[in-house]
Amino acid sequence: MASIEDYKPGLAGVPAALSQVSHVDGLQGILEYRGIAIESLAQQSTFLETCFLLIWGYLPSLEELQDFEYEIRYHRRLKYRIRDMMKCFPESGHPMDALQSCAAALGLFYSRRALDDPEYIRAAVVRLLAKIPTMVAAFQMMRKGNDPIQPRDDLDYAANFLYMMNEREPDPRAAKIFDTCLILHAEHTMNASTFSARVTASTLTDPYGVVASAVGTLAGPLHGGANEEVIEMLDAIGSIDRVESYIDACIENKQKIMGFGHRVYKVKDPRAVILQGLAEQLFADYGDDRYYQIALAVEKAVEERLGGKGIYPNVDFYSGLVYRRLGIPSDLFTPVFAIARVGGWLAHWKEQLAENRIFRPTQIYTGEHACPYHSIQERKLTVGATSFAATNGKKL
Ligand code: ACO
Repeated sequence: MASIEDYKPGLAGVPAALSQVSHVDGLQGILEYRGIAIESLAQQSTFLETCFLLIWGYLPSLEELQDFEYEIRYHRRLKYRIRDMMKCFPESGHPMDALQSCAAALGLFYSRRALDDPEYIRAAVVRLLAKIPTMVAAFQMMRKGNDPIQPRDDLDYAANFLYMMNEREPDPRAAKIFDTCLILHAEHTMNASTFSARVTASTLTDPYGVVASAVGTLAGPLHGGANEEVIEMLDAIGSIDRVESYIDACIENKQKIMGFGHRVYKVKDPRAVILQGLAEQLFADYGDDRYYQIALAVEKAVEERLGGKGIYPNVDFYSGLVYRRLGIPSDLFTPVFAIARVGGWLAHWKEQLAENRIFRPTQIYTGEHACPYHSIQERKLTVGATSFAATNGKKL
């Protein structure tokens, strides 16, 4: 039986899988996908090529890459029933909830499950990579009261997404920057959403359920939701002269500064370094760098105060600035993260299936034993508990 000494809150440092997908060295600031440095991929690869690498474990030949890209272009459209389902979603709902529902709904339409058939695996990979961006963009259009924009087969992956979001063909430089952002977010070892994906995969459910569960996990502010809150923070700070007092107040009130800190990195996240370069490029090309200057001042202030504890910018700190400059609304930042991370989740899904054993950790029971059952007449309201009667008739 496990003892309390075995317990690691948050499973910190507990290996949950043997994996060859990616590697992080948090002290040296190294991230590799299948052994290739993230810096090389960001400079030389494309998002779809990186997904191929993550999922099949090697860089594709030209022919393999062209086939993969072609299949993904061909599968971008959504079934009209999925679009009709989305029309019933409340406009005020969070796009991550919409995405989670749509990803799960794919399982209704593609219900064949043949996890030992490589053709089935490939078809599921293609479908998820192709349709998730269309879902995100369609929800954005629909909540504004517009019809979704149909994908354009002549545009590449990143350009097509920006086109479906804004109904305008993007500047190729902006599309290239967006594609690089997707590479940076595609994979990151055993983080919470990937763990969630692997746990769900280990039950041998369908890949749509795997991705839906990972999307649900990514939605929280301690994981994918942080870049949305970074923008709120920069808005709340408003000007460079208010940065230091804002950061001091956060530290005094033991409030986490969003976009900083990481379970693994104790130096600046290598993705934040690349994203900062992209942000600089974007603001130089398109102007209006007020928020970038505030962000630089925040980084300096946090580093001076918390750098000694290993708290530096993580991937979310500069990504929000980049996305906002590309015209992506802040509540779509996490769905955009999900578009990218589908590549990593699918790589882990495939790896999990190859050597599967259902996840079944243990727990340390800290409750009572041998308690009497009191009849309803004998029960008294426990001190501190909220009576249902007290809230009766009130909307919670
Ligand atoms: N601001 C201020 N202090 C922080 C921060 C922060 N952002 N992050 C960690 N700390 C401090 C904690 O207060 C704690 O201090 P203490 O030891 O004096 O109590 C210490 O550093 C350790 O913090 P933990 O929360 O225990 O670190 P953990 O590894 O569990 O958490 C996490 C990592 C969740 C990312 C945390 O740093 C955080 O909440 N950051 C802000 C949210 C964020 O940016 N999330 C995105 C992460 S990247 C991603 O998911 C893609």
